[in-house]
Amino acid sequence: MAAPFPVTPNRTPAEEFVRLGEERFRQIADAAPVMIWLAGTDKLCTYVNKRCLEFTGQSLEHDVGNGWLDNVHPDDVKRCVEEYELYFDRRQTFRMEYRMRRYDGQYRWIIDSGAPRYNEDGSFAGYIGSALDVTERKLAEESQARLAAIVESSEDAIISKTLDGIITSWNTGAQHLFGYTSEEVIGRPITSIIPPELRDEERKILAKVKSGEPAQHFETVRVTKAGKKVNVSLGISPIRDATGKIVGAAKIARDITQRKSAERELINVRRRLAYAQEEERARIGRELHDDINQRLAMLAIEIDQLQIHFPKSAAVRNRRLTDLKQRLIDASGGVQALSHQLHPAQLQYLGLVGSMRSFCRDFSERQGIKLDFTAEHIPDVPDDLSLSFFRVVQEAMHNAAKHGEAQQIKVSLSSSSTELQLTISDNGKGFDPNEAMAHEGLGLISMRERMRLIGGAIAIQSAAGGGTTIRVTAPLRTGEQSHVNP
Ligand SMILES: Nc1ncnc2c1ncn2[C@@H]1O[C@H](COP(=O)(O)OP(=O)(O)OP(=O)(O)O)[C@@H](O)[C@H]1O
Ligand SMILES: [Mg+2]
Repeated sequence: MAAPFPVTPNRTPAEEFVRLGEERFRQIADAAPVMIWLAGTDKLCTYVNKRCLEFTGQSLEHDVGNGWLDNVHPDDVKRCVEEYELYFDRRQTFRMEYRMRRYDGQYRWIIDSGAPRYNEDGSFAGYIGSALDVTERKLAEESQARLAAIVESSEDAIISKTLDGIITSWNTGAQHLFGYTSEEVIGRPITSIIPPELRDEERKILAKVKSGEPAQHFETVRVTKAGKKVNVSLGISPIRDATGKIVGAAKIARDITQRKSAERELINVRRRLAYAQEEERARIGRELHDDINQRLAMLAIEIDQLQIHFPKSAAVRNRRLTDLKQRLIDASGGVQALSHQLHPAQLQYLGLVGSMRSFCRDFSERQGIKLDFTAEHIPDVPDDLSLSFFRVVQEAMHNAAKHGEAQQIKVSLSSSSTELQLTISDNGKGFDPNEAMAHEGLGLISMRERMRLIGGAIAIQSAAGGGTTIRVTAPLRTGEQSHVNP
């Protein structure tokens, strides 16, 4: 037993007790800053020192005998008694932890160490013990255990290293991310997860940590045990010892490979959309040039001819003029159709609900599909939202007719105070949305992109033979409107 008893260094309380004799021992023990107790051969307590009485707030009369057990936490009493008796009967030293009520009613964690003591003739005289309040230490241990559990359960890699870059801790997240177990890397240099071309980066990081820079965050590349490169976002901060001296660095690494590849995918999609827009412009340019322009040029030539060879017969004149008028009307219709494709002007004067209704009606007539359009409580919708929702309806309906061969389409527009919602369901063939996204078509991709630009969301539900439902939602904002391509 190594209980602190500052009477004579290097002697245990039991030895001290023998050396001093009981009376003198009690006098010295009463001045000691630790709790000290004595028990007789019958296990009953015969004495507790002043420090004990100060701690429990009880009298000596109360604490002797079995009285001290009154102060022990009810949940700990049974275990305490059992352990005490067990060791006592074997005349062995013991060390037990339990909660004891302090004078202020608060239960404190105590470490109680006991040892048998003997008379000068060697006969057993009972026990002597000392007790320490270890609550603070226990709380610190608990909070450390809590922190350790948090670190362990984190999906992020959490690593600590010395200022020389030697790994000192390595959680499960680090094992998952980098493939090394903690046994493989603790004590080894952190450079094993740094690609050779980035070793200089590590030197700079450590220099900053040493200089006391509070925390650094950046994105970089690390390498796994299998040699695979991973994009990571890193957070690095200094670790200080109890005196405040910087002794190492803590590092949190998060795998952002997926995010990076999503970013690349987005750039790819944007490029495709930009290219498609260029193509669309080229198509419209060709149509204006090759079709409408030709038709207008022909009309000009024929009007010229009419001027030169003005028909004498009123009937011929009439026929020629009627023909010219009809072709002018056709050309004008062509221009109008083109301009509608470029920008649905009716959104401005009919509003979103009116434009959708009119589009649904035309679409239903042209395609011979049954269309059911409903709109409920739609407030004034900002232009960019109107245009995006209108384009989604156009594309979804074209897809339903072209790919789904649907007989019926239901379009419903609704809103809450914060959100605009649109659902388009068809009873067509259905498809696999994940597979479709990977194909060349741009309809679904541009729906998604449009929703992203206005902070909205899109969900596509479809299954072979089960029809398709597309649901888009977007926040209704007031104030500034962002620009969206037609
Ligand atoms: N309502 C639907 N019913 C059945 N299949 C659909 C439906 N909507 C989309 N698809 C499938 O998803 C694919 C992708 O659609 P998307 O609109 O992105 O491209 P697209 O229509 O083929 O080409 P684009 O829209 O660029 O002219 C379609 O080729 C089709 O196979
Ligand atoms: Mg399409």
